[in-house]
This record gives sequence, C-alpha cells and structure tokens, in this order.
Amino acid sequence: MHAVTGHYTRVARNINMERLRNNYLFPEISVLELEHIKKYPNAKVISLGIGDTTEPIPDIVTLSMADYARALSTREGYRGYGAEQGNKALRKAIAETFYGDLEVKDMEVFVSDGSQCDISRLQLLLGSNVSVAVQDPIFPAYMDSSVIIGQSGDYQDETLKYRNVEYMTCGPKNHFFPNLSTTSRTDIIFFCSPNNPTGHAASREQLEQLVAFARENGSIIVYDSAYSAYITDESPRSIYEIPGAREVAIEISSFSKFAGFTGVRLGWTVVPEELLYSNKVPIINDFNRIVCTCFNGASSIAQAGGLTCLSSEGFQAMLAVVDYYKENAKILVDTFASLDLKAYGGVNAPYVWVHFPGSRSWDVFAEILEKTHIITVPGSGFGPGGEGYIRVTAFGHRETILEASTRLRSLFP
Ligand SMILES: Cc1ncc(COP(=O)(O)O)c(C=O)c1O
Repeated sequence: MHAVTGHYTRVARNINMERLRNNYLFPEISVLELEHIKKYPNAKVISLGIGDTTEPIPDIVTLSMADYARALSTREGYRGYGAEQGNKALRKAIAETFYGDLEVKDMEVFVSDGSQCDISRLQLLLGSNVSVAVQDPIFPAYMDSSVIIGQSGDYQDETLKYRNVEYMTCGPKNHFFPNLSTTSRTDIIFFCSPNNPTGHAASREQLEQLVAFARENGSIIVYDSAYSAYITDESPRSIYEIPGAREVAIEISSFSKFAGFTGVRLGWTVVPEELLYSNKVPIINDFNRIVCTCFNGASSIAQAGGLTCLSSEGFQAMLAVVDYYKENAKILVDTFASLDLKAYGGVNAPYVWVHFPGSRSWDVFAEILEKTHIITVPGSGFGPGGEGYIRVTAFGHRETILEASTRLRSLFP
C-alpha cells in the first residue's frame, strides 16, 4: 500500500477492484519472506515458494538473442515493430513443435509476452457478461482477472468464494477432476493442466469428459498448458488432442517454465478458426483485434530466443533443464513420502502439493518457515479447495533442494 497524502482525486475506485480480496498471493509471500529475513538476518532462507525458474538458459538460446540484439545496432539488422500476432517463423515453429499433427495452423497461433498477460487479454475479449467456472484450487490470475473484469459477484466471507462463480473442486477424492454431473453450466471454463498448484495432469479420459461437457453446454474452455513440457506419462499435452476440442477451446501456453523465460517473457495463445460465438462470428477475429489494439507484439529479441528454443538443438537443451527440475520434484516427493505425508503432483509438473489434514495452510506455512527457514505457498491462497495443503516448487538448484529435503526431514522426523 502506498502512503496516503492529504490530496485525493474525485475519481471513484473501480468497483471490481474494490471487490478483490487479499493482495495478489505471490507479492504477499515475498513480504513475509522479507520480514522473516529481518527477524533472522543470519538464516539461509530457501524459497520453494513462487514458481520461478532458477537454472541458466542454455547458451544456444541466449547467444541467438544477443546476436539479434547486436544487429539492432546496425542499419541492416535494425527492425522496428513486428507483426502484432508474432513473427511468422516462430508461429510456424510453435504449431509444428507443440501441435505436430493436431491441425493447429500457424495463423491460429498468437505469440505473446507470456501467458499471464494473455489471460488478461482473453478476459478483455470475453468481457464482464460471461459466466465463469474455475478449478478450485487454481492459479490466482484466473480468479483475480475474472473479478477485475467484472465477471464475479461479491466475495463471501462465509464460503471464502466470490458469488456467481462456479468453483470446480479438484482434490484427491475426485482424482483432481471436477464432478461434472454437479457442475453448473457456465459460458467459460478455465482449466489448467498440468495444474498449478496441484501438479495434476488431467488424463485423456478426463479431458474427453471436459470437452463433451463444453460441447453439450455450448461453453468455451480456456485451457492453460503452461506446464505441458513436464508431462511424463500418457496425459495429453494439449487440449487439441481431444477430438472436438477445436470447436470449444482456446489454449494458452508459455515459454516461461519450458525455457526459463520467466524474465525474458514469451508465450502464445491458440484460437482455432472453428471456435465461434453464438452468432457464428469466429472468435479468432476478435482476438486478433484485441491483440492489435491492446498489445503490439512480443519483444523481437525474446522471439529470436524462442525460435532457437524450438530448433532441434535448442529443444534438446530445453528438455534437459526440464528433466533437471523433474529430478528435483522427485527428491521432494520422496522426502514427503518418507515423512508419511501425502504428496501429490511432482510427476507431470514442477509442483508438489502436500496435504496436512486438519491443519490450516497458513499455519503450516508459518511453522515450516519459522522452524526450517523454507518458504512454501499456503494452499488456501489458490482457493478454498486448497485449505490444508501447501505447494512446494521444484524450481531450484539441486543443492538447495537437497538442503531443503534435509531440513524438512528434521522438522517432521
Ligand atoms: C498456470 C499458469 N499459467 C500462467 C502462468 C504465467 O506464466 P507467464 O510467465 O507465461 O506469464 C503461470 C505462472 O506461474 C502459471 O502457473
């Protein structure tokens, strides 16, 4: 919060901003981390909190960005604005690399500066008059952006939920997939797989049910596949692997966790041509309009790096880093298993979702921080369905993950 001075304007606060509860989760945790460091200046704090990548980006990728950037200082190499939808070669490479024979056309791929930014642009596209369903727990940008654009009603302290939002509870009891027979119809279904925070990747059968549900109800699925590179088993990596999905789903994805681009910023959204509004107008036309009006294309330097990530050498280098994080995840899963704690995820995602039955997430977060100097994320920050859980990230240097494992083992012997 900024300091309040004597002067104030005559501008009323946006009612939707007024509706938002709590601060955005991750900055709130950063504040607690800083307070902890102040209290224990000599402690070696380990952050398994915010899911930020830690390993260096392979040389092949950074050199391509450096070359591109250097060329901007030459007459021949200088480039200004690019196409708002992204560089043609990159759109093609994304379609080929991530969608292979799934019929995704280059022109259906919109390159972005990251999927979080595209979540908001999609909200702008959808507007405030649509009804929405969200997984519970879910990555907070979905719920918060729905509130900000005006899709929700007021927050209810009794239920810890916003009104007019369909919360699709996902936990071990329902194999982390909502019971669709009791889920109300909504216009939009936000669905993230592999899921942040639970780490669960929906199975083919689950996604077939989801697509059938959307088709029956005339709904649109906004499918977030930001962690698809982490899928180890047979789970689909894209919603378009499910027949019929092209007519009901938008997919957003990212280079952040696949290529360590959390700071570089690059992602994409696929809007299939067959996806239509009730008046039969193609949604891709409107998304194109939003991108041209509210964005202006991703950084050309980031796009040069993205293209190299998708070269065969670049891709192998990216996957090696993903494998490194997956090994970290295994260390964490094994740690919690050895402590007789139920830990989910960590196989198809860089997140481990740990259950502390009967405890409150913030209490577990505080106890772990106080006694081990490890930052986690309280599960309830992802929605009421996350109460009793904490999320632990597998992003970290190996020695840090091993040290965290040792400290956790001593806390819960
Ligand atoms: C599910 C999910 N979607 C989107 C994002 C945002 O990614 P980006 O860095 O591409 O904005 C994240 C980041 O943690 C995420 O977990």
